[in-house]
Amino acid sequence: MDGMKAITIPEFGGADVLRLAEVELPAPGPGQVSIDVSYAGANFAEILYRQGMVDVPLPFVPGIEVSGRVRALGPGVEHLRVGQPVAALTIVDSGGYAEAVNTSADLVVPLDGHGLELGVAAALPSNSTTAFLVLDRVARVAPGESVLVHAAAGGVGSQLGQAARLLGAGRVVGTVGSPAKIEAARAFGYDEVVLREQVAGANPFDIVVDMVGGPVRRSSLDLLAPMGRMVVMGNASGADDVGIPANELWFTNRTVSGFNLAAFCAAFPAEAGRALHRAVAAAASGQLRVRVESLRLEQAAQAHRRIESGRTTGKLVLEV
Ligand SMILES: NC(=O)c1ccc[n+]([C@@H]2O[C@H](COP(=O)([O-])OP(=O)(O)OC[C@H]3O[C@@H](n4cnc5c(N)ncnc54)[C@H](OP(=O)(O)O)[C@@H]3O)[C@@H](O)[C@H]2O)c1
Repeated sequence: MDGMKAITIPEFGGADVLRLAEVELPAPGPGQVSIDVSYAGANFAEILYRQGMVDVPLPFVPGIEVSGRVRALGPGVEHLRVGQPVAALTIVDSGGYAEAVNTSADLVVPLDGHGLELGVAAALPSNSTTAFLVLDRVARVAPGESVLVHAAAGGVGSQLGQAARLLGAGRVVGTVGSPAKIEAARAFGYDEVVLREQVAGANPFDIVVDMVGGPVRRSSLDLLAPMGRMVVMGNASGADDVGIPANELWFTNRTVSGFNLAAFCAAFPAEAGRALHRAVAAAASGQLRVRVESLRLEQAAQAHRRIESGRTTGKLVLEV
C-alpha cells in the first residue's frame, strides 16, 4: 500500500483533534480523477465535519476543494491528462487536506491557459461556485434586482457580491458584524456595506442571502420585497434553527429556498462542474477577485481556529 500525508479527524471535537497522519494513497475509480494537491481551501464546512455535525466514519480526511495537478485518471475519463493543472470540488467525499485526493471528473476544471495561480485557484471551487449557483440557479436574479448579502467580507460573502454584479443585479448591499470589516467588504465591490444591526431600516430587497442564521434569518425575512427570495445557505452563528412561518410567506408573496453545495454536487455533478468553470473563467479574466492568505497544511488547526473566531476576511488556503 502506498501512503501519503493527510490531516485527519480521529475524533470529533475542537481544532486540537486535527492530526497530521500517514493514510492510504487513493486510486481513482471509474469516472474519477486523482489529483496531487497543491493547495486545499479551508472552509467553515470542514469545521462542521470536525465538530461531528455531519455523520462521517472516523478517522476522516476533511477538505472540500483543492487545486493541483492530475496524478492519474480513472477508467472512462478522457478529457483530462496527467500533469494538467486543475481546480476541483472534492466536497462529495471530502479528503482535500492531503497530498492526493480523488473526485468525480465532472467536478474537475482544467486551469491551462488561464494564468491563475494555484493558491488562488484553490479558493474558487466552494465559495465562488456557490455564489453563482445561489444567485443564478436558486434565487434566479434578474437584471436590476437588488441583493443583500450577510457576512459580506467572508469567504462566500466576498464572492456573492461580485457574482451578483456579474449576473446583472442592481443595488448590491452587504452586512458585516463589526466596523473593522466594512472596508474589507467594500473592496469586493458592494455598493454599500452596513453593520448587521443597522440594516433593519433599509429599503426592501429582491434577494437576501443568509448564511449567518438565528435572529438574522428571522429579521432577513422582513427585509424581503414582495416576490422577494431569501436563500438559506449556512448557520455561521451556530444559533438554533429558526422556524419559517409558511403562512406569512403565503400572505406576503415571499419565497425561502435552501442551497447546499455538497448535496448539489452529488445530485447534479455536471451542472456543478459548469458553475465551477464559470467561476474559474471569471477569476481568470479579473472579473471575480478573491483575497487569499496561505498557511501550510500542518497549520490546519490554526486555520480552523481563525475561521471559528469569525474575524477572518477573504479566504484561507493550506499549501500542501
Ligand atoms: N450552503 C453551501 O453550500 C455553502 C457554501 C459555502 C459556505 N457556506 C456557509 O456560509 C457560511 C460562511 O462560510 P465562509 O466559508 O464564507 O466562512 P467565513 O469566511 O469564515 O465567514 C463566516 C462569517 O460569518 C459571520 N459570523 C457570524 N456569526 C459568527 C460566529 N458565531 N462565528 C463565526 N462567524 C460568524 C462572520 O462575519 P461577520 O463578522 O460579518 O459577522 C464570519 O466572517 C458558513 O456557515 C458556511 O457553512 C455554505
